[in-house]
Amino acid sequence: MTNTHITSYIDGKVGIIQLNRPKVANALNRLMIDEIVKQMEVYDSDDAIRVIMVKGNEKAFAAGADIDEMMEDTPLSLELLDPFAVWDRMLLIKKPMIAAINGFALGGGFELALHCDLIVAGETAKFGFPEVQLGVMPGAGGTQYLTREMGRRKALEMVWLGEPVSASYLLQNGVINRVVAPELVEEESMKLANKLSKQAPISLRLIKEAVDAAGDLSLRDGLKLERKNFYLTFASGDQKEGMQAFAEKRRPSFKGV
Ligand code: CAA
Repeated sequence: MTNTHITSYIDGKVGIIQLNRPKVANALNRLMIDEIVKQMEVYDSDDAIRVIMVKGNEKAFAAGADIDEMMEDTPLSLELLDPFAVWDRMLLIKKPMIAAINGFALGGGFELALHCDLIVAGETAKFGFPEVQLGVMPGAGGTQYLTREMGRRKALEMVWLGEPVSASYLLQNGVINRVVAPELVEEESMKLANKLSKQAPISLRLIKEAVDAAGDLSLRDGLKLERKNFYLTFASGDQKEGMQAFAEKRRPSFKGV
């Protein structure tokens, strides 16, 4: 697939998407989001890929939606175009997604990271929702994701003030997973991705579904879904392999079936 604003390549079992509009701090225009989501879907349906990683460059993961592109929008043009509908397709990705972040992750860039399952950031990364300073507000899920991750008061403070916060602040508040030296972000993300690549893919997939459901379902319904998913793992060869390997005191080799 030929893309204009992203570069994609495979490293082992990890499908990598590199955001590639460096002249505008990887600002996300609509074509770019479309390319990102399509590439995620390609990786998600490729049996050779176990984990998806999204990364930017040293200066920026992504500095938000492309302001030049949005400038002339009207309520009706937005209603007709429905530019955020494509973002919803990220919710259908079944494989683990890791965001590897250096530099700015602002507005839509932060929202893209929040759509990923795990976030690894460099110590100097800056996260924020500056939309309020543009007279708008987050539109690609920022208020919903951030509130779920850090709670109402902290989310309101962050989105109301629009000021960037550090990776360590988000680590303390449970929004991101790991903070490392900027030059180690990619290595740490790959380590994590390679570990996940060795786990049973069906377990990872069903765990992701169950954990995501915890935000939407009642406890009773969530427990029901978890139980069904647990039962479903017993349909896989990987369950047999995992338990057999335990009995034989060796490492399991999971096939994803
Ligand atoms: N849209 C369009 N262009 C952008 C951009 C964006 N979001 N962010 C940066 N750029 C462009 C700049 O205009 C500049 O272009 P020129 O060289 O042609 O002037 C280039 O990228 C480099 O940026 P700066 O010169 O500003 O670099 P800096 O290091 O001084 O600052 C920055 C970097 C802090 C990221 C700053 O560019 C900035 O504040 N950008 C805007 C961030 C923002 O407001 N994001 C939210 C967008 S709205 C949104 O995302 C809505 C949503 O929910 C989906």
